[in-house]
Amino acid sequence: MRVLVIGSGGREHALVWKIAQSKLADKIFCAPGNGGISKQAECIDIETEDIPALLEFAKREKIDLTVVGPEAPLSAGIVDEFNNYKLRIFGPNKKAAQLEASKVFAKELMAKYNIPSADFKIFDNVNEAKKYIELKGAPCVVKADGLAQGKGVIVARTIDEAKQAVKLIMEEKIFGDSGNRIIIEDCLEGEEASIIVLTDSKDVIPLASSQDHKRVFDGDKGGNTGGMGAYSPAPVVTSELFKEILEKIIYRTIDGLVKEGMNYKGVLYAGIMITKEGPKVLEFNVRFGDPETQAILPRLKSDLLEAMLAASNEKLGKVIKTGGMDWDNRACVSVVCASGGYPGNYEKGKEISGLEDVAKMRDVVVFHAGTKELTNPRTQEPKIVTNGGRVLGVTGLGNTISEAIKNTYRAVEKIHFAGMHYRKDIGQKAIKI
Ligand code: AMP
Ligand code: GLY
Repeated sequence: MRVLVIGSGGREHALVWKIAQSKLADKIFCAPGNGGISKQAECIDIETEDIPALLEFAKREKIDLTVVGPEAPLSAGIVDEFNNYKLRIFGPNKKAAQLEASKVFAKELMAKYNIPSADFKIFDNVNEAKKYIELKGAPCVVKADGLAQGKGVIVARTIDEAKQAVKLIMEEKIFGDSGNRIIIEDCLEGEEASIIVLTDSKDVIPLASSQDHKRVFDGDKGGNTGGMGAYSPAPVVTSELFKEILEKIIYRTIDGLVKEGMNYKGVLYAGIMITKEGPKVLEFNVRFGDPETQAILPRLKSDLLEAMLAASNEKLGKVIKTGGMDWDNRACVSVVCASGGYPGNYEKGKEISGLEDVAKMRDVVVFHAGTKELTNPRTQEPKIVTNGGRVLGVTGLGNTISEAIKNTYRAVEKIHFAGMHYRKDIGQKAIKI
């Protein structure tokens, strides 16, 4: 098979790495890819949102399956475009991708189909939103309706903070038109977990549970980031809880979408808060999580490409009949090494050292995110330099979560680039449980 993966982050490197292990994969392309992906796939210079160019490429190169990493091309309708030309693609169509692209859509669906989530109200008027905040009090959560690169959520501890959030999103338009409407919802307390499944609307295959670390500093301090690390499994998700999440959240959501006329195919990701009253949805994503995927896929023994192909052909049931997905019982931890200044401003082009040393380590793999391969003009040797905020996802397995943590940080300590910073407590929450 000829496979095209769309994206350039750590998630896409993990996908390419896993797809490369499939006996079905003959040739892998990645658009646009990064300095690490280029070792396993041919990187092509097309941006993730350039749908006409991606379509032309898939037609010309006779791609058998396209796998979409990020949400933007999905919500822009890449699946509909590919379907028009009978090109096989793994992901939901534009209408179904609203589940992530519009929080109003997602909340209305959850309310209609009795899917547990925080109580909420929708506003398109600043004064009414502010009046509601005064009435309801704080804490509360203010969310922009549309896509905001994972930054459109403000957890407000006071009434003033909540009103300020409304002003920023609706008046100052810090997320552009994504803030034309907002949601104000109750603040939930508990432990977070990510549940990611593959589905073709008829059947569901859950991947292993995981947990992300969104804040930049240890102890969940500092600003929100795209994710500073993850681990899998998340012991907070016991097998009973996993079952409850599937029944009350995942199946109801997929059935609800079908009843609304949407045949959902691809990945469904539920960000869950495990509250005293049970699991509740924080958000849905219509794609693999980043950095969760980096911590999940090294534990997957089965062929991911085969399962994604089956889902896109509405034949996921066949994979289930032949045994479903097989998992390594070991734990996996992925630590993000970020550029100095991230999630604020940062510089690019810093040379990364230590990757060869880490490549010799057992049960460790480094997924590249913001990296680029350059040729040293003096020696003509290739070198890897930083090219983004989140640079690497250093990932390690261990018999226990503590062993996985030790193994991973031993690798992190071998890697260096100017300004590099990382959290030192990835996975610690799993030990405390
Ligand atoms: P989201 O992008 O909707 O997942 O929100 C980003 C982060 O904001 C989540 O991972 C939570 O930490 C937090 N969050 C979102 N909704 C709520 C809520 N209703 N209560 C408490 N925290 C929330
Ligand atoms: N890890 C959070 C996300 O992928 O949206």
